[in-house]
Amino acid sequence: MTTQGEVPSVTTDQAEPRTTPLPLPRWRADLRLGSRIVAMRAGGLALAVRGDPVARLMHKPWRLDPYPTYARLRATGAATGGVARSRTGIRAVASHEACTAVLRDRRFGVRLADGRMPFDPTDDASTASSHDPTDPGTALIEPIDLSLLGLDAPDHTRLRRLAQPTFAPKRLAQYRETARAVTGRLLDAAPTDAPFDLVGALAAPLPISVISELLAIPDVDTPRFAAWGRVVGAALDGVRSVRHAHALSRATADLRALFADLVERRRADPGEDVISQLVHALDEGQLTLDELVSLAQLLLIAGFETTTNLVGNAVRALHTSGPWEDLVADPALAAGVVEETLRWDPPVQLTARFAHEDVEIGGQRLRRDTGVLVLLASAGRDPAAHPDPDRFDPHREQATAHLAFSGGAHYCLGAALARMEGEVALEMLAERLPRLRPAGRFVPRVATVLRGPRRFGVRAD
Ligand code: HEM
Repeated sequence: MTTQGEVPSVTTDQAEPRTTPLPLPRWRADLRLGSRIVAMRAGGLALAVRGDPVARLMHKPWRLDPYPTYARLRATGAATGGVARSRTGIRAVASHEACTAVLRDRRFGVRLADGRMPFDPTDDASTASSHDPTDPGTALIEPIDLSLLGLDAPDHTRLRRLAQPTFAPKRLAQYRETARAVTGRLLDAAPTDAPFDLVGALAAPLPISVISELLAIPDVDTPRFAAWGRVVGAALDGVRSVRHAHALSRATADLRALFADLVERRRADPGEDVISQLVHALDEGQLTLDELVSLAQLLLIAGFETTTNLVGNAVRALHTSGPWEDLVADPALAAGVVEETLRWDPPVQLTARFAHEDVEIGGQRLRRDTGVLVLLASAGRDPAAHPDPDRFDPHREQATAHLAFSGGAHYCLGAALARMEGEVALEMLAERLPRLRPAGRFVPRVATVLRGPRRFGVRAD
């Protein structure tokens, strides 16, 4: 007998008819997914209320200010060889030393030891690997292909080598010109006698323009790009709701269509841009079309969600914990402000790695495939690495010794570009809007991995 939703497949074995599940109607799949997300969030929240620090990183109100939780995790980790345990089953490293060690250790990767995609450690409703097509709960969620971020060697090494020339130092000067011109235009348009949203006016459109030039995307639709970025960026934490799952599927499909079209255009009319170079590599058999599209998509999303947060977090830090007036008096301080923001309140708070074999760290044994959260933002507040770490000080020496751009094989490819954009934005804000100050609401993102404002009310009159 078959149950509803299943049909017998053709078989020669009459005694044991095999069955193939049919996709459930969409409303039932939505319901399954929705209940699964609610159950998981409730479980996580219960652990957070009982004090589990890793669960607290994922839930309000603790998520809004994760730094006390990081301090606790550093203390717990110090007592257990640098690796803190959580009842969520996830391990976490929180000190600068332990984070650096895991990121640089080749026995860890971003996939499981056998190359499968791991469960998303922050929220398994979103997992790509748990993407079991026979499970209607996950069938709706397309795996998010994060290209380099989701690949280990040798594929990672091959693709990273192809992307690297885009970020060559000689190109940075050209991108700086673009960043200055775009920032100038955006600041010209900012109201001088009324409050405005710093994210919508500058922090989001600036990196979108720069990355679009880098990829030579014609006719950029900034609000649409910003919306894609928000949806995909939020998915780094896992899928939040059925609505989010649908939005994610749509955004991914739209992005793929955009880049597939761009590939065809560049093939017909190659230029100096990164897509043209990748199309050339494609034609030489160095990567597949799918790999090309995913890589371009990663460059687009990685390039603006993060930099938007950098500008927002820096302006906020300068007003709540630091010297905005110092920057106005000396706009060249912008480079120091960028570094200090990256250490003190970084746009990317954490990443994850998986042990590819049994590993011992600080006397603790981690079994093969154990997932470890690497708390990059916690490393920036580690007193063993940064004196007086909770103080925001743009004049700090050794300012670049943070892990905001990660470390090891996946060190951020766009680090120099992001630093340059942050500097240009802050320098020009200080020069052009010296009376800039918070006015209205700072609305944070609903996220654990990415930290920054969704909206940031300011005025400059
Ligand atoms: C302030 C801004 C930025 C921050 C804080 C940041 C942070 C990071 C971090 C933490 C990683 C590594 C994650 C891991 O180890 O698992 C990463 C990787 C990456 N970032 Fe950035 N990023 C920023 C801006 C950019 C920009 C502007 C681009 C340019 C398009 C970019 C492109 C990439 C790429 C391609 C990777 C993947 C590298 C790999 O896996 O080999 N990022 N970024």
